[in-house]
Formats: sequence, C-alpha cells, structure tokens
Amino acid sequence: MQTLKGKHIVLGISGGIAAYKSAYLLRLLIKAGAEVQVVITPNGKEFITPATLAALSGKPVVSEFFAANTGEWHSHVDLGLWSDLMVIAPATASTIGKMAGGVADNMLITTYLSAKSHVMVAPAMDLDMWAHPSTQRNIATLEHDGVEIIQPASGELASHLTGKGRMQEPEEILRRVELYFSRNESLKGKRILVTAGPTYEDIDPVRFIGNYSSGKMGFAIAEEAAARGAEVTLVAGPVSLQTVHPRIRRIDVRSARQMLEAAEEAFEVCDAAILSAAVADYAPEHCHVSKIKRENIDGLELRLVRNPDIAAALGASKGKRKLVGFALETDHEHDNALVKMERKGLDMIVLNSLRNPLAGFNKDTNQVTVIKSDGYEKEYPAKDKRDVACDILDELECIEGF
Ligand code: PMT
Repeated sequence: MQTLKGKHIVLGISGGIAAYKSAYLLRLLIKAGAEVQVVITPNGKEFITPATLAALSGKPVVSEFFAANTGEWHSHVDLGLWSDLMVIAPATASTIGKMAGGVADNMLITTYLSAKSHVMVAPAMDLDMWAHPSTQRNIATLEHDGVEIIQPASGELASHLTGKGRMQEPEEILRRVELYFSRNESLKGKRILVTAGPTYEDIDPVRFIGNYSSGKMGFAIAEEAAARGAEVTLVAGPVSLQTVHPRIRRIDVRSARQMLEAAEEAFEVCDAAILSAAVADYAPEHCHVSKIKRENIDGLELRLVRNPDIAAALGASKGKRKLVGFALETDHEHDNALVKMERKGLDMIVLNSLRNPLAGFNKDTNQVTVIKSDGYEKEYPAKDKRDVACDILDELECIEGF
C-alpha cells in the first residue's frame, strides 16, 4: 500500500557500515510512495556509492555544496523547505555530535539546520561509542531540540562485539516513518488539556509536601497529542522537563489550587482532558511566612486541609467533552480505579500499579490497564512512556463522540 504517497523525504546518510542498509530503506520508502532526496556525507560515499542511491531514488544524490559536473550550487535551504520529513540513517557519532553542536561543515548538517520538518535519527555505532557520555549528551541535546531518536538495537556489531549500537532494521525505520505521517492528522482540529507532574504544597519558604512524579508520562502524552495535530495546553507542576513542540502551550504551576485554576480555564475551550498529574490531596492549612525554626518548638503539628479535586471539578461540568484520569494504586487497584472513574465523572481511567517495577513514578516505562465507562477494558504490556502515550491517545480517539 502507498502509505507515503506524495510525501517528500530527505534521507541523510553518514559514514558508517550500516550505510549498506540505507539502500534497502530507500527502496522501502520509494515503494511506499515517497519522493526521496538522498543527502550523503563525504564519508558516507566511502560505504555506499551515490550511483546506487541515485538509481533507487531516481534523483541525483546531493553531497557537496556545489555539483561536481555543473558547478551548480545545491541549496540546503530549498531542500530543508521541500522536506516533509528528514530521516538520517545511519547517523554516526560524528554526525550526531555535529548536529548537536550545529557544526555545519557538510551538506547533510546544513540541510538539517535548515529543515522546517520533523527529523528522525537512527544512530549506528560501536557499543562503547554509543555508551560514551559525550554521545549520550549529544543524543539528549537532540531530543531536547525535538529530534526523534530511533534507538539502536542490541546485537552483533561490525566490530564483532555484541551490544547496543546496531542501526534499527529498515522495516522498523519505515514503520516509524509511517507512524509519524499517520498520526500527524488524527487529532487535527482538536484541543486537548494535559496535566502533568506533581504539585507542591508549601509549608514554609523552604519546605513543601510533594511527591515523586517526574512529569514524564504527562509530557509524553502532550508531545504525542501535538504530534498528531492537536493544540495542547499542558499544565505542569514543578518538573525539570522541557517541551519543544510548537503546538504545546505550557502553563507552569506549583500547587493543586493553581493547577485547578489553570486547568479549569483551559478546559473551557478543549475537546478532552487527560489528567496525569499526581495532585497532592492535602495541603497545609497555612503556609508559614518565615522558615519554621527547630529551636523554637519541640514537636511540630501541621494541620492539613483537603485540596480541590481537579478531575471531579472538570467532570462535573464536562458536558460532551471527554475526560481521562489516571489511577495510581497500591491495593484493590481495579476496584479503586472503577470507583474513581465513577466518582470523578471520567470517560476513561488509566490504571498504573505501584507494585509493577516497570510502572509509575519517574520511570521511563509504564504498564497500564485502560478502563472505559462503557465497560471496555484492555491491559497493555510494559512499554516506554512514549508508546504508552500512543496507546492512551488511540484509546481516547476510539471513545464515541470524541
Ligand atoms: O510523572 P511520572 O513520573 O511520569 O509518573 C506518572 C504517574 C505515575 C504520576 C501517572 O502515570 C499517574 O498515575 N498519575 C496520577 C497519579 C495520581 O495522583 O493518581 P490518583 O489515583 O491519586 O488520582 C486519580 C486521578 O485524579 C488522577 O487523574 C489525578 O490527576 C486526579 N486528581 C487527584 C487528586 C486531586 N486533588 N485532583 C485530581 O485531579
């Protein structure tokens, strides 16, 4: 099936042994209907010939700033504007480092710096190079810049060592490309509110009541919803995460009351809300103006008062809008989740268990069971939180009336 018909893809190839797989990837992209322009680094040409790539793509391969035969200038700006997606496969440690540092000394990097489209990178290198702190720093920088990393696989490497560093197979890269284009449209025109992270309830100027939520789950949902075309309002408690997607409007808050205020205002114009924040149920009745001194008191009693329930407040006024909550339980998980869904007026609840070591606070993975108010239930295996975000949005998109 021509899943990529009419799509313009820049395929960047850098100089690693995995470049031989790029010819097959190129073939798959073309077969899926894409128009592909290959941009190869000078070192890339040592591993695969431009003649092969030109024959497969039906276009001359771009490598130098000026065409060798005609002297014509290759415009990286035009290429950057032409592309609907840029895929760099393989991306060597050197290319990743240059991308992270903006070192524009070849056509591939100048095209990357000019690209207005989404960029995917499929790293390929030896296991020690991949694990090196400098590579990992550069990968983190690219992620921060909004680049999608197609994590390398583990297996036998060109060095005959075994470990993580193999470029993903072309079929897997094609799957990610297809996923990018298919999800791009599905939430277009929808407005979605996401809450994420913990809330901090101040005791005095230096102390607070909080929890271990990192915001990773909620930020993954916000990024995925924006990638599918939604306009997202992300109300975030105190977290150290960054957001890069231009369709995410981020509102930073600290306490449950501030989160309620921001969420209520944003929800007015939204089609759905996904409440992944770990909201403190109680807050100190008073926040001391100055630091509580231990010298002055033997014991300390704090009177806590109940915080507003944001989910229940939105649930009471939601009308046709859809509301998704989370449940974080230690026991009687399923029953407690059902009670929460009913009490808060949710259409769907995402149950994650603190008993599963791959689920919950501050992990990169989560394991969830989705329960809907019409009785539908599905238990998912443990996955990267970005993939869990995909599952949650797929489930939301299936709710009748959304
Ligand atoms: O942030 P991470 O480190 O990635 O971790 C993700 C997570 C574990 C925090 C997330 O997956 C999750 O489970 N979030 C909800 C945690 C929680 O507070 O659960 P709860 O069972 O106490 O609350 C139920 C629902 O009501 C939640 O949707 C919560 O956002 C909402 N709630 C709770 C209390 C309150 N006062 N107002 C609310 O809106």
